[in-house]
Amino acid sequence: MSIVIDDDACMGCEACVETCPDAFEMNGDGDKAVVKDADSDAECVDEAIDACPAEAISKS
Ligand code: F3S
Repeated sequence: MSIVIDDDACMGCEACVETCPDAFEMNGDGDKAVVKDADSDAECVDEAIDACPAEAISKS
């Protein structure tokens, strides 16, 4: 499994980082999220996917 953020869709709301800081963090500019741990199996990853208003997070 690999967690992916659609960079174009992400609008930087930070919900994923707040929901699941083990798997997500903001980039250096603080305007987009990046995947910190693409292999994370934390339950909060699914919560972050649901929390993202841009539906920018997916797992493959
Ligand atoms: Fe971006 Fe969605 Fe996270 S908009 S900052 S991927 S909650």
